[in-house]
Amino acid sequence: MKNFIFQNPTKLVFGKRQISRLNELIPADVNLMVTYGGGSVTKNGIHEQVKTALKGRKYIEFWGIEANPHVETLRRAIDLGKSENINYLLAVGGGSVLDGTKLVAAGIASDEDAWDIVLRGFAEKQIPYASVMTVPATGSEMNSGAVITRAESKEKLPFGGAYPQFSILDPEVTYSLSEHQVACGLADAFTHVLEQYLTTSNQSRLMDRWAEGILLSVIEIAPQIKENPRNYDLMADYMLAATMALNDFIRMGVSQDWATHMIGHELTALHGTTHGHSLAIVMPGTMRVLKEQKHDKLLQYGERVFQITEGTEQERIDKAIEKTEEFYRSLGLTTRLSEENIGEETIEIIRKRFNERGIAYGEKRNVTGDVAREILRRCL
Ligand code: NZQ
Ligand code: ZN
Repeated sequence: MKNFIFQNPTKLVFGKRQISRLNELIPADVNLMVTYGGGSVTKNGIHEQVKTALKGRKYIEFWGIEANPHVETLRRAIDLGKSENINYLLAVGGGSVLDGTKLVAAGIASDEDAWDIVLRGFAEKQIPYASVMTVPATGSEMNSGAVITRAESKEKLPFGGAYPQFSILDPEVTYSLSEHQVACGLADAFTHVLEQYLTTSNQSRLMDRWAEGILLSVIEIAPQIKENPRNYDLMADYMLAATMALNDFIRMGVSQDWATHMIGHELTALHGTTHGHSLAIVMPGTMRVLKEQKHDKLLQYGERVFQITEGTEQERIDKAIEKTEEFYRSLGLTTRLSEENIGEETIEIIRKRFNERGIAYGEKRNVTGDVAREILRRCL
């Protein structure tokens, strides 16, 4: 096990009607701005719940943070926040609203342009922020990361910083999600675990079992949710699984991959592919290309997650990869670039972008632009 420091300060407030606790959770003396997306919260009654909970408090609202939040929109929120002396933010929405709000928190605390903060990769300072999370998927409600799009250049890059002060997770908010959004959310949570688990074997028994527990839970609930998307206990497990998949708990002392995510971000930036869907397309390709490097872990994954015990090692590994692709398809997602009319031209752009940035992903830091091209070709 590698050395590590673990500290996750986010207070998780979980359960039915917990949005009503907002007023007691936000300090009384702050100058508050509440941020929203494009209006789903108006249709499903969450906006009303937030307004009721904040009754009697003075605050301003910022609307219009889009899916895959654009720095161009966030600059406007930063300007508004600065001009109103805002010193506390509450994001009400999915991962995009919250990620965008993380950048607004950094932009208000700094004189730098917001995109320069993203390019540096981390925010030196952020004003405190919290969330009411409405999509189980990203784990953004309990982690320090965010992913921002620069629409002008079709770029999508991550940065890190402070954690949310608190996040409210009421599984009932998921009842208004479409089947596609749920599929993408489950795929995202599942893939987050794989990015931190499907690496080198024998690093930590505890992290392995914890990760496998989340994978097995997601596999178990996915078909049931399809049948019964308004079952509270199912949605509660889905919501908590998504949080636990990316809140630092399963990555203590172990190596991480993230190549699939970084390639997926490019597909989203260039083609608008929904985040979770992009991962369903790329992950099987990553597994195929890196199967030697991930050999032992793939065997363990196949056996413990898909009960694959028969055949030669190669056959078992191939079966595990096949089962993974089948799982994504069972959610209702396509898993091939050709099904989305994406081809060589995009693959070449991604290869060039990775090589120009001079970075390499994967637990062995060997997924360069050329390897990304190989992965994407296996996804055609
Ligand atoms: O904008 P509104 O009108 O609110 O509509 C949203 C949006 O169109 C809608 N929605 C949200 N809550 C809803 C709802 N519709 C019905 N009922 C509800 N309860 O859903 C649409 C998608 O929302 P979005 O926030 O984009 O989804 P998600 O939570 O999956 O977030 C995706 C973003 O997070 C990033 C992704 O790259 C992408 O930009 N990620 C962030 C991570 C992090 N911070 O750690 C990690 C992830 O790997 C991911 O990269
Ligand atoms: Zn993700």
